[in-house]
Amino acid sequence: MAEHPAYPVGLRLAGRRVVVLGGGQVAQRRLPALIAAGGAIVLISPEATPSVEAMADAGEITWERRRYTEGDLTDAWYALIATGDGEANERASAEAERHRVWCVRSDDADRATAWTPATGHSEGVTIAVLTTEVKGRDPRHTAAIRDAVVEGLRDGTLVARHHRTRTPGVALVGGGPGDPDLITVRGRRLLAEADVVIADRLGPRDLLAELPPHVEVIDAAKIPYGRFMAQEAINNALIEHAKQGKSVVRLKGGDPYVFGRGMEELHALAEAGIACTVVPGISSSVSVPGAAGIPVTHRGVAHEFTVVSGHVAPDDERSLVDWPSLAKLTGTLVVLMGVDKIGRIAETLVAHGRSPDTPVALVQEGTTAAQRRVDATLATVGETVRAEEVRPPAVIVIGEVVNVGLPAAQAPKPSQPS
Ligand SMILES: C[S@@+](CC[C@H](N)C(=O)[O-])C[C@H]1O[C@@H](n2cnc3c(N)ncnc32)[C@H](O)[C@@H]1O
Repeated sequence: MAEHPAYPVGLRLAGRRVVVLGGGQVAQRRLPALIAAGGAIVLISPEATPSVEAMADAGEITWERRRYTEGDLTDAWYALIATGDGEANERASAEAERHRVWCVRSDDADRATAWTPATGHSEGVTIAVLTTEVKGRDPRHTAAIRDAVVEGLRDGTLVARHHRTRTPGVALVGGGPGDPDLITVRGRRLLAEADVVIADRLGPRDLLAELPPHVEVIDAAKIPYGRFMAQEAINNALIEHAKQGKSVVRLKGGDPYVFGRGMEELHALAEAGIACTVVPGISSSVSVPGAAGIPVTHRGVAHEFTVVSGHVAPDDERSLVDWPSLAKLTGTLVVLMGVDKIGRIAETLVAHGRSPDTPVALVQEGTTAAQRRVDATLATVGETVRAEEVRPPAVIVIGEVVNVGLPAAQAPKPSQPS
């Protein structure tokens, strides 16, 4: 038997009796997939790991707390033999053979009638990798091949184009704060499948360099807007490309809905009858402070954080922010788009009761190779920004959390994009 490769097949186990002998680590690893396949699973074992026990408690499997006895495999469609008792495994295996029940054995792959492939999932397909030979089997190698394929499909480095007719439309993709590794798996895959990408200045621009040459990359800031507003011109470009039947990705910095005008684009696309999907992103409001060693909350220090746009000054009549009320909060204030106005913002917060000694950190170009952190207090930040020539994009963190991180020497280094 061992001289021939296994014949790969997908078992449809829904509602069918599956017998698992042994409730240890092997069962714990295999049971979730058997449960997902809808098998009517009977576990026969005197003991089980806490995780397996939890599956029984949740009603996902039926657990008979006893040892294997002859006859347990009658009527089974599939069996997993994984007890710690070699003699019981041997008897169960013989019974499976007699009843023509395909069985996997954890202790002796050579004597099993079925092998479990290394499996992974990506976008509606299961990737299953089986070794062709039982002698000299290398399960780590099969698992590594599985990982390479699944990872590649997920992060877009392995592109499998859909052969069914793709629904043209637009994906609003949150690209994260800048490090190309900080986009979501879904965002990266959609990017890899796009015909057209309309990208903002902020966000993971390095990813654009990886796109195949046929992909049209458009800089959103450079779309001519003539009689339209810039945003209208972007909306029109999205609509026009989608109407040509293309897959369009609108790549945005951070999350599309955090000061990202994502909903405006969604409305415009809906009005034009264009299908749109929205992929969340890691917002700079939390990730950029984190990358500079600042948690936006910390037990005993800050029980809230508030994210505010600082693009208009507190005394500007267009401002929708209630700065006097924010000054009364004791937690963390995170200000985006506030580099130019931080002096006025700090004065307003102090005027309405926040201590001038409140620590402030400005994190410029967070998560990129150019990341830089400048510290100040509410009393000094206006001057510090000028003296240190802090430039946008920067996230400004105001509050005691600024001081709870590790000293610079012990702080984790920013993760390097792979
Ligand atoms: C128009 S808002 C977009 C925010 C984005 N949607 C998000 O969720 O991160 C732009 C502001 O986000 C902040 N920002 C975005 N990426 C940044 C980065 N890598 N480093 C520092 N600040 C960043 C800056 O305050 C910048 O002015």
